[in-house]
Amino acid sequence: MTVDSTLFVCTTCGSTWEDGKRIGTSAGEFLLQDLQVALADSGIQLQSVKCLSACLNSCAVAITAPGKFSYVLGQLPAQDQRSETVTALVQLAQLHREKTDGFVPYAERPELLKNRVLGRIPPLLSSN
Ligand code: FES
Repeated sequence: MTVDSTLFVCTTCGSTWEDGKRIGTSAGEFLLQDLQVALADSGIQLQSVKCLSACLNSCAVAITAPGKFSYVLGQLPAQDQRSETVTALVQLAQLHREKTDGFVPYAERPELLKNRVLGRIPPLLSSN
């Protein structure tokens, strides 16, 4: 059975601040908008989040699913190379969804994301 994966996108990353307030549309918000189109009807859920605590490695996203490995990715070129970033994230999300345990080996990761994984968290052990 394929378990849907959820891709979290930080919409605070790439923000412009003025007098302590965010102004305009952040790079993370643009990234989310493009991913909403790219992932429509893909079985991959999108969820915006205001921070993933990876701010020094902006732009950041994370992918997870019940019973699967989770990944946090950062330093995504969501401004300069947003189209390529979206394509790579869609590929990664599809691989994560297809894999029973969500483990996406380095060799299978899209080139743009190979060195942008900040962390990998194993699935929770069953409490039974
Ligand atoms: S603002 Fe995006 S990870 Fe903190």
